[in-house]
Amino acid sequence: MKEVEHPLFLRDIWYYALHGSHLRAGKLVRKQIAGEFIVMGRDPQGAPFALKDNCPHRGVPLSTGWFDGATITCCYHGWQFDATGTCKKIPALADDRIDVSKIKVFRYPCREVNGTVWVYIPQNKLKLDGADRHFPDLLLDPTKKFWYVDTVTLPTNIDHAVIGLIDPAHVTFVHQSWFWRSAKNLKLKEKTFEPYRLGFRMVRHKPSSNSKGYSVLKGGTSTEITFQLPGNRIEHIRAGERHEVISITTLTPIDASHTELNHIFYTTLGLARVLWLPLRRLGQKFIGQDLAVFRKLAKGLETNPTLMLLGDPDTQARWYYELKKQWNVSIAEGTPFENTLKGQTLRWIT
Ligand code: FES
Ligand SMILES: [Fe+2]
Repeated sequence: MKEVEHPLFLRDIWYYALHGSHLRAGKLVRKQIAGEFIVMGRDPQGAPFALKDNCPHRGVPLSTGWFDGATITCCYHGWQFDATGTCKKIPALADDRIDVSKIKVFRYPCREVNGTVWVYIPQNKLKLDGADRHFPDLLLDPTKKFWYVDTVTLPTNIDHAVIGLIDPAHVTFVHQSWFWRSAKNLKLKEKTFEPYRLGFRMVRHKPSSNSKGYSVLKGGTSTEITFQLPGNRIEHIRAGERHEVISITTLTPIDASHTELNHIFYTTLGLARVLWLPLRRLGQKFIGQDLAVFRKLAKGLETNPTLMLLGDPDTQARWYYELKKQWNVSIAEGTPFENTLKGQTLRWIT
């Protein structure tokens, strides 16, 4: 048995990179994901690509070069690459016996699904076969696109960001609002969870009666919330027979102390289309409340205090660490990921 490492960032896994609307023809976007610098763009057919953001010649970021929609030209000595990362031309080279097409920039697996773009970060850049497994299921018909809500950078590492995202107890204190709920109106909640793919899900149930936001959706509503590695929370609400709402929050590690949160949304409810601007602002307000508490948390963590996970409200956080551990075991041993969680009912007051 190999020694299992427990690095902060999971590899051999897909990360949300950006909303497709932020990747325009002829433009390069530089992203940092799990510590790696990546240059993204669209090829001449409009498909997204993601390349290591270093010129193989002397390492200048390719994102600082020129892109005409087909060819990236490095700003230093003008080496040219196509969207697959293959070198096409070295302007200063007089010797035509050198086959420049052998020079490649590493190309990350990259997929666009439902108007969202995801990048696969491998453990070993020579082994990309795992990329076909474990692409997240966004629960949406392939012809439909998610609407963009917001992107913020949280000033904490991925672990703190994730346990903040799946933490039920902060909602009462961080997300107080006349529209949503208030601390005066606490109720005992009981939620049943089961293991699910790369994570766990809160089994479909009627939404809590102290959330006014849900009561707008009349006619038998139910919600199901899943969390999966590396940091994807998907809330699926059914409203009546025909309607659905899908609200997705993703967390993508940038570096060891910053994490990008993205929120995307989809619904069949016509009312939500009419009310999209105020609805989006409400979503941004919630994210702003999380960001404010994460800024305070980052201050608190500067001295590296001892922390605790306590009781049912923190059980999902313990599950997250357990899943992460299992993921790293599967990578170290080259075995399929095994979800070792057990179904459980958790109780808390919010
Ligand atoms: S560093 Fe890119 S062409 Fe020389
Ligand atoms: Fe929150």
